[in-house]
Amino acid sequence: MSSYKKVILITGGAGFIGSHLVRLFVNKYPQYQIVNLDALTYAGNLENLRDIESLPNYIFEKGNINDQEAMFALFEKYSFDAIIHLAAESHVDRSISEPLAFVKTNVMGTCNLLNVSRKKWNPNWESKLFYHVSTDEVYGSLGKEGLFTETTPYDPRSPYSASKASSDHFVMAYHHTYGLPVIVSNCSNNYGSHHFPEKLIPLMIINIKNNQPLPVYGKGENIRDWLYVDDHASAIDLIFHKGTTGGKYNIGGFNEWKNIDLIYLLCGIMDKKLGRKPGDSAKLISFVKDRPGHDMRYAIDAGKLHRELGWKPSLRFEEGLEKTVDWYLANEKWIEQVTTGEYQHYYEKQYHK
Ligand code: NAD
Ligand code: DAU
Repeated sequence: MSSYKKVILITGGAGFIGSHLVRLFVNKYPQYQIVNLDALTYAGNLENLRDIESLPNYIFEKGNINDQEAMFALFEKYSFDAIIHLAAESHVDRSISEPLAFVKTNVMGTCNLLNVSRKKWNPNWESKLFYHVSTDEVYGSLGKEGLFTETTPYDPRSPYSASKASSDHFVMAYHHTYGLPVIVSNCSNNYGSHHFPEKLIPLMIINIKNNQPLPVYGKGENIRDWLYVDDHASAIDLIFHKGTTGGKYNIGGFNEWKNIDLIYLLCGIMDKKLGRKPGDSAKLISFVKDRPGHDMRYAIDAGKLHRELGWKPSLRFEEGLEKTVDWYLANEKWIEQVTTGEYQHYYEKQYHK
């Protein structure tokens, strides 16, 4: 028997959002034991968690969610009370060139974890929870008007969003068919520190700094709703503790930006930080071939989460963006570490084909 109040498995804890969530839980809940399971793919990096790795309530386990035997053994070893599942392939462009990798991890891996949870927890699962972290992309693409609510029909349009939609359906199916206690949350675009530089904001920050072209897909008119990563982590914390089992929650920033406007804003912030003349960084903007099937607009109605649990984002976008830029400018070593090898190969294929 563990002396901790709860033993929680967080999958994908070495990635961008996972590392922020692990840090929050390890620091805020010394009474919980947090087990971080991560396969350490190109996107997972233990450097993201150096500051908390020696705390007594934190444990790292290297492993793959697809490995059935290893997952059974992990459940045997720790007797988890709950799982917060983030491990996934997460980049839309990669899903376009390698869709099967997304089916394997996001669909099969999630099903494997669901199945192990069902077998290990059944029948005493009243106090257990399988919390699945998902995306707003499952709802498809909006026109000029409207917002995604929890009841918007699923309409995924990229291999990434189709794999996440499928995983959401499996999670709900395990709830309805077997009674497994689950929660699903669907969040909009996150930004902040430790974000892998294949994604828009960190890629632009690094290219601006290095005076490299800023590749804007299409005309830059696509719209995303941006949320500071620690605000996503605080929403997960709240939903994990106070959300309704079997429920679904949308999480968003109430913060829609056209890509091109966001990039101009970022260029302005970086001109100041780097001592450049206003407008200098924006000269690097380069319009490139559009992403195939590029969703036009995502916008989340996070009203349910606000009304029921009182959550709202804590940071204004300009503030969060400035903090993010400061982090990237102060963490060259981290950037160097993640932009070698596999990343160079990916960058060449994606942007110089
Ligand atoms: P990320 O790519 O930064 O991190 C994913 C992590 O999962 C990495 O540490 C990786 O090593 C690990 N992983 C991948 N495959 C694995 C496997 N088979 N077994 C074990 N570990 C594996 O992703 P992120 O941006 O932090 O996203 C985390 C989760 O949140 C994902 O499920 C994603 O769909 C969801 N999400 C992301 C955003 C966003 O804006 N980034 C928004 C909403 C939802
Ligand atoms: O909405 C939530 C989703 O947000 C998450 O589920 C995904 O894991 C996450 O990657 C993110 O998906 P996007 O496709 O919206 O994020 P990305 O950073 O790849 O792109 C943001 C926008 O910027 C999108 O319209 C494409 C555009 N873009 C992106 C890159 C990498 C460019 O114009 N140029 C680029 O080089």
